[in-house]
Amino acid sequence: MTVGWSPDSWRTHPIWQVPVYPDRDKLAAVDQELRRFPPLVFAGEARRLARQLALVAEGRAFLLQGGDCAESFAEFHPNNIRDTFRVLLQMAVVLTFGAAVPVVKVGRLAGQFAKPRSADTETINGVTLPSYRGDMVNGQEFTAEARIPDPQRMVTAYNQSAATLNLIRAFAQGGYADLNRVHAWNLGFVDDSPQGDRYRDLADRLDEALAFMAACGLTSETAPQIRETDFFTAHEALLLDYEEALTRVDSTTGDWYDTSAHFLWIGDRTRQPEGAHIEFLRGVGNPIGLKVGPTLDIDGLLRLIDILNPSNDPGRLTLIIRFGAKKVEEMLPAYIKAVRREGKHVVWVSDPMHANTVTSANGYKTRHFDRILDEVRTFFQVHEAEGSYAGGVHFEMTGKDVTECVGGAQDITEADLPGSYDTACDPRLNASQALELAYLLAEMLKEGRHRTRERELRRAIPAS
Ligand code: PEP
Ligand code: CO
Repeated sequence: MTVGWSPDSWRTHPIWQVPVYPDRDKLAAVDQELRRFPPLVFAGEARRLARQLALVAEGRAFLLQGGDCAESFAEFHPNNIRDTFRVLLQMAVVLTFGAAVPVVKVGRLAGQFAKPRSADTETINGVTLPSYRGDMVNGQEFTAEARIPDPQRMVTAYNQSAATLNLIRAFAQGGYADLNRVHAWNLGFVDDSPQGDRYRDLADRLDEALAFMAACGLTSETAPQIRETDFFTAHEALLLDYEEALTRVDSTTGDWYDTSAHFLWIGDRTRQPEGAHIEFLRGVGNPIGLKVGPTLDIDGLLRLIDILNPSNDPGRLTLIIRFGAKKVEEMLPAYIKAVRREGKHVVWVSDPMHANTVTSANGYKTRHFDRILDEVRTFFQVHEAEGSYAGGVHFEMTGKDVTECVGGAQDITEADLPGSYDTACDPRLNASQALELAYLLAEMLKEGRHRTRERELRRAIPAS
């Protein structure tokens, strides 16, 4: 049991980025209601994810985390869930082939509804209103009414999360995620993509590998690994009223777990060591993530690692690095060295989205495909140069054909942005951009593996 911690101990700590609910009675009623709701995930599943993340920390698996910046009530539709899930599976297959290790799949979904904002208010045409903080808190429409934080939204978010998770579980275990189907979708993507030729080689070799496995008797009928998949959920644990209400004692271990998702992370704006969010997450048994932006210095990071993972368990803590394409090369080496020097076990993941957001000439918040790629590529290069393991990637993406990020094989331009700009918050990669990134990453991973192999061989056979 974590010393001095209880599910509500965060309430005595300073807190940032949370709403003030004008209707306290309604908040109390919703709190009571949420406490009676069943857990969304089982603690045993969170431990299973932690074990898989421990393999990532040791360089024996790879983490793919992706999904919406913010889920919304308006976009809630089975097709959207299906399409995002499908693209994540497609990416995972490509990455498994490139990395030649299992890929741990974690969706930013079934709970990603609360958003930190850079300003408390928003002004349009001289009118100033409280900022939108995600559908779980208030409404996006620019009216005074919509922007009032409403506790009932937590119940709607819970229900949407439960329904989303139910469908994902059905897909993951019911045959939709069959490796052969996922591979067939990938062949379709390669055929349709303007830069498909670049990816065909990898797709063809995967085709041969599957045919070989089938010839050896490993098919959907004989091997559950081909027919089914593990899939986990994650979101930023920002709205602590909600997270506390879903934090329960696991009857098998007696430990506390936040049962709103398998994996919870702490955002870059709420990682103050004395703050409520760090206090809350230090006590739950789930694997957790920490966003690391350029304003978190090395001493600050080491301090947070000690608070969040005092027993230094591999798999407990994932560092999600979001330095930006320009800064990552200069900053990351010293962070890797310091964490290694202190002997800390962490999973290193690149979030190439959040420090590469710009405003287009026509006024849209966007991200450039090439900057995103630059940051991931540099992240992997720095890790290789430091002899450290780059454990995974964290993307904001959707299965829909949106026009929110510019570039990629479809060559989306700033003028295209208004066409299908649907995000409730940050710009997401569309299905094609997300898959392209997966192919490019897989190539990088494969080349990295070959270089490592050559180095090992050279060491094993000294030059005469
Ligand atoms: C996010 O992941 O949506 C987010 C807000 O990220 P960060 O905390 O890194 O800015
Ligand atoms: Co975001």
